[in-house]
Amino acid sequence: MDRRQAMSLEVRPMEKGDLEALAVLEALCFSEPWSQESLGEELSNPNACFLTAAEGGEVWGYGGMHFACGEFYLDNLAVFPQHRHKGAARAILLALRDFALAQKGAFLTLEVRPSNTAAIALYTGLGFRETGRRKNFYTRPAEDALLLQLDLTGEA
Ligand SMILES: CC(C)(COP(=O)(O)OP(=O)(O)OC[C@H]1O[C@@H](n2cnc3c(N)ncnc32)[C@H](O)[C@@H]1OP(=O)(O)O)[C@@H](O)C(=O)NCCC(=O)NCCS
Repeated sequence: MDRRQAMSLEVRPMEKGDLEALAVLEALCFSEPWSQESLGEELSNPNACFLTAAEGGEVWGYGGMHFACGEFYLDNLAVFPQHRHKGAARAILLALRDFALAQKGAFLTLEVRPSNTAAIALYTGLGFRETGRRKNFYTRPAEDALLLQLDLTGEA
C-alpha cells in the first residue's frame, strides 16, 4: 500500500459533481448498481450520509449509509480498482463511523457477500462482528449475505 498517496486523500460529503463518476463505479462493482439519479437523491436526504474520497479532484471511491433512531446502515462502499490498497475504503469507513458516533449512534450494520474476502477483512479489521446471515440475499450470482455490526456504544 502506498501510504504517501493516502496522505493527501480527502474524505468529504458527496457532491453533485461526483455523481457521474460514482454511477460508473457502481456499475463496475455491483450486479445491481445504483443509478446516478438514485445517488443524487441522497444529496438532499436528511437521514443519509454519503461521503466521497477524492485526491486532487479525482474521485477514488465512496461510501454511504442511512440512519434512523440511532441505527446506522451502510448501503455501499466502493473504490475504483486503480486506487485500491491505498487506504481509501478504510478512510471512508472511519469517517462514516465518526459521523455515527457524533450522532450518538448505537451501532453500524451492513450486509456483505461471504465470498467478498477483501471487504470482510476491512470490516472485521475495524471491529465489525458477525451477527447473522440472510439466506439468498444477493442475486447475480445468488449468495447469502453475512450481517456484520460495529457496536458504537463503547467507542465514544
Ligand atoms: C472492498 C474495497 C472497498 C476495499 O477498498 P480499498 O480502498 O482497496 O481498501 P483499503 O486500502 O482501505 O484496505 C483496508 C483493509 O481492507 C482489507 N483489504 C482490502 N483489500 C483487500 C484484499 N484484496 N484482500 C484482503 N484484504 C483486503 C485489508 O485488511 C486492508 O488493510 P491493510 O491494507 O492494512 O491490509 C474494494 O476492494 C472495492 O471497492 N471492492 C468492490 C466493491 C465492494 O465489494 N464493496 C464492499 C461491498 S460490502
